[in-house]
Amino acid sequence: MTLLKTEPSTGRQQNESQSSAGQRQEFLNGERRARAREMGDFLANLKTGMNPEAQNKVVNAWQESARYWEKYRALIAQMFAPLTAGLIEEARIGIGQKVLDIGGGSGEPSLTIAEIVGPSGSVMYTDPVAGMVESAQAEAGRRALANIEFNQCSGDDLPFADATFDAAVGRLSAMFFVDPLAGVREALRVVRDDGYVSFAVWGPKEANPFFSIVNDAVDRFVESPKEDPDAPDAFRFADRGKLAGILEKAGAENVIERELNFQIEAPIALDQFWQLRTEMSESLRKKMTDITPARLPIVKQAAADAAKKYFASGKMSFPAQALIVTGRKR
Ligand SMILES: C[S@@+](CC[C@H](N)C(=O)[O-])C[C@H]1O[C@@H](n2cnc3c(N)ncnc32)[C@H](O)[C@@H]1O
Repeated sequence: MTLLKTEPSTGRQQNESQSSAGQRQEFLNGERRARAREMGDFLANLKTGMNPEAQNKVVNAWQESARYWEKYRALIAQMFAPLTAGLIEEARIGIGQKVLDIGGGSGEPSLTIAEIVGPSGSVMYTDPVAGMVESAQAEAGRRALANIEFNQCSGDDLPFADATFDAAVGRLSAMFFVDPLAGVREALRVVRDDGYVSFAVWGPKEANPFFSIVNDAVDRFVESPKEDPDAPDAFRFADRGKLAGILEKAGAENVIERELNFQIEAPIALDQFWQLRTEMSESLRKKMTDITPARLPIVKQAAADAAKKYFASGKMSFPAQALIVTGRKR
């Protein structure tokens, strides 16, 4: 089956085979708007305004994670590269552009985009966490990238003048905005008219075994508090239409939600996968402290049994699903 996307603003057409790698499905505007309407209650209840206490909680959690994101930088870049490619495509990033990266973590997608926009373009990397900024800045220095700047700030409150950038992107960061509506409004404010804002977020847990396998194994042994679906969390925007509805409420035009199916791949073994997951994730690090040494091998074995089919080829390869949600400033 072939899916056709036509975007009236550019007249651009894309044909893709649904069975091809990086398979995508598009929600055309009408259908997605209907979904966004279903999200009415959520949007009506959406809080605006900064909450410093909540912001500190998120920032502190990520500050502790920064050293692990530095440790696994190369693997992370490789595992999530299809998300960067999706953002670059959806935000129409090319040579000579000025691009804002919101929540750039240990450096992606900033570092890749700096190479794409070239010396005539530039990237402004941002992240509210000092450890993340240091990590990304050090890597840009090692690569001798001269067209990238760094600013420690939150996506909800960007220290840039209106219409400063050609495009703004966020890879796996929008779900951690304390105030997502404010964050999207800020992104739209700082891009020029007609500029794109584009966010990559995870699809549902069930479509992302890279995350759910270790979590499920640990949750069998550690009591977990009931999750608030609107709290900052990796799967906060997994529901179709949820983030797209926020973009529309923030005033974005031509909002498109693209489902991106890809493989999370890296040349690591099952044992390294366990270590990677239990170090990178703040919630898993916390839960691990509640597992007794006697129980640890049982939990590890449960995760290994569930994960081994994703290592059958000798390297890690998990199916994954993300949403890339994009809108334009008018
Ligand atoms: C899952 S990591 C993603 C990092 C990087 N973009 C990547 O894809 O590798 C989430 C990032 O969001 C950042 N973050 C947390 N709260 C934020 C906020 N309010 N505004 C912008 N970024 C935020 C964290 O510090 C962290 O670096």
